[in-house]
Amino acid sequence: MIIVIDFGGQTCHLIARRIRELGVKSEVVSYKICNSAKRPFSSVKDLEGVILSGGPSFVNLPDSPTVNKKIFELGIPVLGICYGMQLMGKLLGGKVGKGKAKEFGVVTGNLNQSILFDGVTGKQPVLMSHGDQVLKLPKGFKNIGGSKDVANAAMFKDNFYAVQFHPEVVHTKNGMKILHNWLFKIVKAKKSWNHFNYLNNQLQLIKKQVGQDKVICGLSGGIDSATASAIVGRSVGKQLRNIYVDTGLMRAGETEQIKKAFSKSLIVIKAETQFLTALKGVIDPEKKRKIIGELFIRIFEKEAKKWRAKWLVQGTIYPDVIESAKLHDAAETIKSHHNVGGLPEKMDFKLIEPLRELYKDEVRQIAKKLNLPKTLIARQPFPGPGLAVRIRGEITRQRLERLRQAEAILQEEAKKFKLPEGIWVTEAIYVPLSTTGVKGDGRSWDEMIAIRSLTSVDAMTADWTRLPYDLLAEVSTRIVNEVPGINRVVYDITTKPPATMEWE
Ligand code: XMP
Repeated sequence: MIIVIDFGGQTCHLIARRIRELGVKSEVVSYKICNSAKRPFSSVKDLEGVILSGGPSFVNLPDSPTVNKKIFELGIPVLGICYGMQLMGKLLGGKVGKGKAKEFGVVTGNLNQSILFDGVTGKQPVLMSHGDQVLKLPKGFKNIGGSKDVANAAMFKDNFYAVQFHPEVVHTKNGMKILHNWLFKIVKAKKSWNHFNYLNNQLQLIKKQVGQDKVICGLSGGIDSATASAIVGRSVGKQLRNIYVDTGLMRAGETEQIKKAFSKSLIVIKAETQFLTALKGVIDPEKKRKIIGELFIRIFEKEAKKWRAKWLVQGTIYPDVIESAKLHDAAETIKSHHNVGGLPEKMDFKLIEPLRELYKDEVRQIAKKLNLPKTLIARQPFPGPGLAVRIRGEITRQRLERLRQAEAILQEEAKKFKLPEGIWVTEAIYVPLSTTGVKGDGRSWDEMIAIRSLTSVDAMTADWTRLPYDLLAEVSTRIVNEVPGINRVVYDITTKPPATMEWE
């Protein structure tokens, strides 16, 4: 297992995913987690290596993120990337500061003979993104690479290696080979991570945990809960019952589709009034999520009681856990995903979360392995709290109705275009901000719909999709003409980070 220490770098999660792609288990933890420990990561089983990620700060600032120096005394290999290299340089006695120039983008690196660069020596395109650099190597370190503006673009001593460039991004052409060298020639990591193993382990674990108990699963119609249900179903068969809660916060026609897809065993609970009453007057997004998370659990508890179920299956995935900061108590809470940070403290059953360690693309691969329907695998993710997190401010029936209409128009029109690949989601958001318009000869003072489309692999980072202008034009015209109370449509062109995907 490899731990990636997160210093806030945009590609930190990409490092962990690359390591997993190479067949080794990897987890991301905040830099804050090990700073006061006597022996960092002593509770982590099978720790084989540590990677220090990139980050936006400068190591010489007084309160810049740092790491417990004892990680260099654990006897395991450490790899520093970008900020991670500078931190390693500074902590081990080198000098870090501004060099000749800052580098942002692909440059030519000159990589020297070493285990890390085995098979990729000489001139190589590498992605740099930094202001500072290691000006003087720590004692005993050897330079193994440079670029036009960075004399020390790579260094090593014993088990400690570092690179100023980013091997995890595709722009560093041989980055995967470099990570492969580090993993298998320096760390000598065991290949332990593949989806087949993961699935088998989960199947056995769940069977053992659950025994003869009864289990319920909260299905939302999305891939995560469907995959979680399929895994548990394989383990415990008829001891599992699937439940779908119609919160009234779903998109047009969605409840009907879900009933159709899961018709055989699905229990449908109508709870629209309950949810809308509980959410009345609430405008704080975190509060909304907590109310929704709690209400889901109370409904599930009631159902569990009827059937004497002791376990609840949830489709929680790794990014939900990270963003809700429940994993290691250190990271900032970005938003409390309703199924993690939004859960009540006391619950009448225990949770089974077979996907808790997986990124979305890994869930898709497991779903394929389990032969789930293609339409489900390709379905765009929809958050558990539904349209509640796509309506800025208070949820009302009227706003829900308008947003459903706008969303249906968007999806209908999008189907007519050939869209770019890799779209994670294309969605409409209700913005309760009135602006002046002119309809016919009269003035209007109506609210707004925002369109957001994002391209992403794992939802941890995303770029806004360059949707065709003709599509945007058609959607805008139809929404302002067909949806009552809306006189303006805007297009959100913000990446994640700094913005999250959903507006709330
Ligand atoms: P954000 O907005 O956090 O979204 O960038 C990343 C992915 O997570 C989904 N999302 C949620 N899913 N409960 C969920 O089940 C939640 O509370 C929640 N908040 C965001 C979002 O739709 C996107 O796919």
